[in-house]
Amino acid sequence: MSATSPVRPVLPPDIRARKGTDPLVVLTAYSTPVARLVDAHCDIALVGDSVGMVIHGLPSTLGVTLEMMILHGRAVVRGAQRAMPVIDMPFGSYEESPQQAFRNASRLLAETGAPAVKLEGGVHMAETIAFLTARGVPVMAHVGLTPQAVNTLGGYKVVGRAEEAEKVMADARAIEEAGAFSVVLEKVPQGLAGRITQTLAIPTIGIGAGVDCDGQVLVVDDMLGLFTDFRPKFVKRYAELGRAADVAIATFAAEVRSRGFPAAEHSFPDVVPVKK
Ligand code: KIV
Repeated sequence: MSATSPVRPVLPPDIRARKGTDPLVVLTAYSTPVARLVDAHCDIALVGDSVGMVIHGLPSTLGVTLEMMILHGRAVVRGAQRAMPVIDMPFGSYEESPQQAFRNASRLLAETGAPAVKLEGGVHMAETIAFLTARGVPVMAHVGLTPQAVNTLGGYKVVGRAEEAEKVMADARAIEEAGAFSVVLEKVPQGLAGRITQTLAIPTIGIGAGVDCDGQVLVVDDMLGLFTDFRPKFVKRYAELGRAADVAIATFAAEVRSRGFPAAEHSFPDVVPVKK
């Protein structure tokens, strides 16, 4: 692409067509400035319902509302020129019926401008995914550990060891058959994630699912090291921004207390100096 040619936004069929080619790069984003950073390097900017924990300090994703997803979705759409924004459907906004799911998914698309939604669940969500995709709502699915089911699962566990493996495989097959254009595999053992990736014709995007997936996703605040106390095994920290921010804030506080800040260059003189 030349420097002057317009940027073409990535759309669900482009993601679908990437199966078996180069790995898909996905990060979460919840704000315009972070969406701009993600846009420069990633294929998808996922407006995850992790926003509830990461930005709003909630204990889980269960308290996230449709209004929150619309607000953060709009912010991300403003910052993403090429990368495709995908918006998570929050807990309680799609599970009741395909009709409820369509009502809320269509609001997410219409009110944010994003081209796709993501929802959690396998076999039991297949009917809903088919209903949505038949009506113009591209769906990214999410199987394995589905955080909205944390209370049923009994924690944020690896899902798919031993006899659970065939259930996760069945979930993945069902969402593909229903028309999902890609699927997130969360906390699925590496061998099983590889098998699912080999079996499906749609791209798998792993988080804690090993290197054999068609792409990888991380929560952007996790990989930037913005938290000091949250270190799941599957997160690699590519920066320590939390530590850097702590040092910066401590230095600011010390300089305010010692009257070292603001200095003359940060202040406005009473008389504007005449330029010679
Ligand atoms: O909500 C989220 O951020 C997600 C990713 C972790 C896949 O669903």
